[in-house]
Amino acid sequence: MRPQFTTGRPALVVALAALLAGCSAMHLSNPFAGKGPATATTPAVPAALPQDRHSYARPEVARVTHVGVDLRVDFERRVLSGRANLDIQTAPGAGEIVLDTNGLTIRAVTVEGRPADWSMATPDPVLGSALTVKLPQGARRIAIDYETSPEAGALQWLTPEQTAGKRQPYLFSQGESILTRSWIPTQDSPGIRQSWSARIVAPAALRTVMSAENETPEGEPAGEGWKAWRFEMDKAVAPYLIAIAVGDIAFKPLGSRTGVYTEPAMMDLASSELVDMGRMVDAAEALFGPYRWGRYDVLVLPPAFPYGGMENPRLTFATPTILAGDRSLVSLIAHELAHSWSGNLVTNANWNDFWLNEGLTDYFENRIMERLYGVERAKMLEVLGWDEWMEAIEANGGPTGPDTRLQIDLTGRDPDQVDTDIAYNKGAAFLRTIERIVGRERFDAWLRGYFDRHAFQPITSELFLADIREHLVRGDAALESRLMLEQWIYGPGIPANAVEPESDRFATVDAMVDKYARGLTTASGIYTAGWSTQEWQRFLGALPKDMPRARLEELERTFRLNEAGNSEIRFLWLRLAIAGRYEPAIPSLEQFLMAQGRRKFVAPLFADLVAQGDWGRPIAQRIYARARSGYHPVTANSVQAILSR
Ligand code: BES
Ligand code: ZN
Repeated sequence: MRPQFTTGRPALVVALAALLAGCSAMHLSNPFAGKGPATATTPAVPAALPQDRHSYARPEVARVTHVGVDLRVDFERRVLSGRANLDIQTAPGAGEIVLDTNGLTIRAVTVEGRPADWSMATPDPVLGSALTVKLPQGARRIAIDYETSPEAGALQWLTPEQTAGKRQPYLFSQGESILTRSWIPTQDSPGIRQSWSARIVAPAALRTVMSAENETPEGEPAGEGWKAWRFEMDKAVAPYLIAIAVGDIAFKPLGSRTGVYTEPAMMDLASSELVDMGRMVDAAEALFGPYRWGRYDVLVLPPAFPYGGMENPRLTFATPTILAGDRSLVSLIAHELAHSWSGNLVTNANWNDFWLNEGLTDYFENRIMERLYGVERAKMLEVLGWDEWMEAIEANGGPTGPDTRLQIDLTGRDPDQVDTDIAYNKGAAFLRTIERIVGRERFDAWLRGYFDRHAFQPITSELFLADIREHLVRGDAALESRLMLEQWIYGPGIPANAVEPESDRFATVDAMVDKYARGLTTASGIYTAGWSTQEWQRFLGALPKDMPRARLEELERTFRLNEAGNSEIRFLWLRLAIAGRYEPAIPSLEQFLMAQGRRKFVAPLFADLVAQGDWGRPIAQRIYARARSGYHPVTANSVQAILSR
């Protein structure tokens, strides 16, 4: 698929976009000019940005530059209610601004303090409704009084029972990809960067944290039983990065600029697992340039959090399923940290170019891991990623499948319900291919420059290509043809210059798998002593899927896999057990599906059950009936789709 630029729109409108860049200097708005980076406070909407098919906004007419929310957290009704103040910029002659909303109840809209004409379009189940506000000439400020729906897609309201402490309720948000509009009425497109601030009023017993600078570390009194918290993000960010959590949350510093937030009951486990965070930030800076966000903290959420991690600026949100007790799953933190460059600093302009967020981050994550824990561990992770890529190709129609391209066409689809493994693993393989061809030193210099040149701006595949040609290829035709840049980005499958990675440690594991699969050894004859989590992942992932019951029983007896506390190991074991219809694993499966809501684990297990037809489907239905109320909408929607297949 070729990129869809803003064809069908008047050329004049494209020219107007330059006026809306938020700065007077033309070169800051022109992505092709190759001049210095925009500063944090001059958000640019480059003239040539393709249309974001997942937003109703028309930023070339009028765009939001700053969002200020003032919200009350109502746990009883499960709503946020209050006001959003939007600062806007308009093109000459603009008569209205279009915002994104989803499920919001609008009470009143004012422009420059006066009641405004506004209308809400018929909602689309995925995109929500366009909120159009009529503007007088030169309007700069809009205020919207509103309230969220208890079903807001971004918000999960937890009962005390769903937390570790069991005594206080909990609220958290998840904005990516297009969910921020379910709690903030704004232009919810990653190419429309906005600075933001917030005042949050919440029950006094709880702490509020957000992905911004906290200006009131202990909160301020706000009436009997309430506290107010103020936050400020002075840098322009994509709206999907605005995040909040409210609960019984404690804090423990880990270093001068790093720390952990989590429930008190989780603090010891979380803080000891994440001790290396400060060194990770140092390593990331040494690789690809300064960390530009001040602090880097991690919030370890209750187990209902639907993702492994979410790179909310200054405050990564993370699942507690990475707390393995032996720091073996901390690559997830390296990943979310890496997004502080790839994703948060340089942001995909729309979701078709998601690989520019995740592929670059996957690559960067591995470089951090290599620096901290050595080449051997990094290689193992790389090989696991390659295997995921191969599986994703199969799952997406084979090597000619359109969704096996890096840039894909998500028009008409919900970006949060699409398989994303290609973006991560093919994206990372692409960067490794470039690195291998030009050499690490030259590659690193280019990537560092890329982050500087595009800092605080949106990126597309086309801008990426233009940058790499201008700053790395530099007219070297032989190099250009060896790199196969266009094949990687616009072509399906595995480009010819991809090189499969190898790990010596995995070679040893594979030899064991082979011996075991051929019946040449029993489970107790497998030398697992000293195996890392990654070797276990390789082992369980490589075992045949059709093992007879006796073999599963033997594996379970020897390694106690039903009780595995490491979530990745437990997950892979349960997949094997379901494939072999091994009933003694069902209680362990049920416990695992009840205890956490991370979609990466939950969805494949339900899919595996359903694939077992009459044996598995009833088990899936029974467990889902019990577990669904604990799942975030993102996870529940995925499971629902699987069960209705
Ligand atoms: N940004 C993603 C999470 C995400 C992606 C949320 C798409 C919504 C839509 C995050 O950085 C991520 O990739 N998380 C991974 C972990 C990572 C180590 C691969 C996850 O959640 O599993
Ligand atoms: Zn990511």
